Amino acid sequence: MKGLILSGGAGTRLRPITHTSAKQLVPIANKPILFYGIEDMVAAGILEIGIIIGDTGDEIREAVGDGSRFGADVTYIPQAAPLGLAHCVLIARDFLGDDDFVMYLGDNMLQQGLTEFVEQFASARAEGGDDIPAAQILLAHVDDPRQFGVAAVNEAGEVLELVEKPENPPSDLALVGIYLFDPSIHEAVASIAPSDRGELEITDAIQWLITNGRHVRHEVLHGWWIDTGKKDPLLECNRLVLETIETRNDGEVDEASDIQGRVVIAPGAEVVNSRVRGPVVIGERTRVVNSYVGPFTSIAADCEIIDSELDHSVVLNESRIVGIDRLTDSLVGRHVEVTRSDTRPHAVRLMLGDHSMVEIA
Ligand code: G1P
Repeated sequence: MKGLILSGGAGTRLRPITHTSAKQLVPIANKPILFYGIEDMVAAGILEIGIIIGDTGDEIREAVGDGSRFGADVTYIPQAAPLGLAHCVLIARDFLGDDDFVMYLGDNMLQQGLTEFVEQFASARAEGGDDIPAAQILLAHVDDPRQFGVAAVNEAGEVLELVEKPENPPSDLALVGIYLFDPSIHEAVASIAPSDRGELEITDAIQWLITNGRHVRHEVLHGWWIDTGKKDPLLECNRLVLETIETRNDGEVDEASDIQGRVVIAPGAEVVNSRVRGPVVIGERTRVVNSYVGPFTSIAADCEIIDSELDHSVVLNESRIVGIDRLTDSLVGRHVEVTRSDTRPHAVRLMLGDHSMVEIA
C-alpha cells in the first residue's frame, strides 16, 4: 500500500494561512499539522509516500526532506495549478502504479490514526466475493454538511450517493479528508469533468465508481476530526492535542515564576517572573517575561512574550507580543509583532497579510 498526501490540491486547500507559509506547516502543539499525517501513515506501515506540492512546495520540501527522519521514503509530485483533489490522483499515476493507496488531505487531523482503517480495507478486499470494495471512505457527523462532500448511506451500510457541497444535503455525514483506493480510481479520475468550482472533485470520482457498479465501503469516525484550514478549528485542534501532553521542563524557570498544570518548556526557553497555567507548550529559545500564559496556548520557537497576557492561542516562530493586556482565541503567524503604543492619535495600527482576520474590542 502507498500513501498520497496532498499539501497542494484544491483551490481552497492550497491557500496559505499567511502569504508566505503553507497552512499544512502550521504547528499544533508545536508540531506541523502535516507531520501528524506522515507519522500516522508510517504507524500504519505505509512507508512509500507521495506528497503533492503546489505554490508552497519549497517550504514543504524543506520541512519534510526525503522522509528518512520519519522512517519513510518521500517522493514530491508538483501540481502546476490547484485543479482539484482528483487531479492530484491523475498526476500521481506513475508514482502510484497499480498499488492500493491511502489519500490524505494534509490539513486534516484525526484522533484515531490510520491503522484501523487501512486494516479494514485490506481485509475487506482479501475476503473476495462479489463485494470487493474499490474504495473506502471515512464519514463524520457534522453540524453544517453544506461545507463538505456528503454521503447518503442505506441501512445495510452501503454508500448510495456522494455529493460535493450540496445545498440540500442528503444526510449529516461529511466526507473526511482520508480515502482508501484500489487502482480502479485511475479510470474514475480520468472519466469525470470539472465541477462548478473548476476542480476535478474526488467526490465525483468516487460517485463514478458507484455509478459504474463498484462497491464503496465506509466507516463512521468515532474520535474527533478537524479540517484545520480555518482559525477556530485550528485552535480547537491545538486544544485537543494539548490535552494529551506530559509536563517537561528542558528550559529555565526563575524563582519568581509559577508554573501550574501540564507545561512543556523546550530547551533554551526562559520563563521570568511569569505565571504559566497549562496545558501550554513553549518552544525553543522563547522568552516569557513578566507575563501570564494561560491554558491551551502553543508558543513556537524564538518568540518573546513580554508584559503581556495570553491564552487559548497559537503563536508561530519568531513573533513578539509586548505590553498586550489580553490576547485570546488568536492565531499569530511568523515574524509578527503585536505591541502597545501610546503615540497619538490613539488608534489601532495594522499590517496584515492575506486572509487575515482581526476582532477589535
Ligand atoms: C474537500 C473535499 C470534501 C471533504 C473535505 C474534507 O473539500 O472536496 O469532499 O469533505 O475536503 O476536509 P475542500 O476543503 O477542498 O473544499
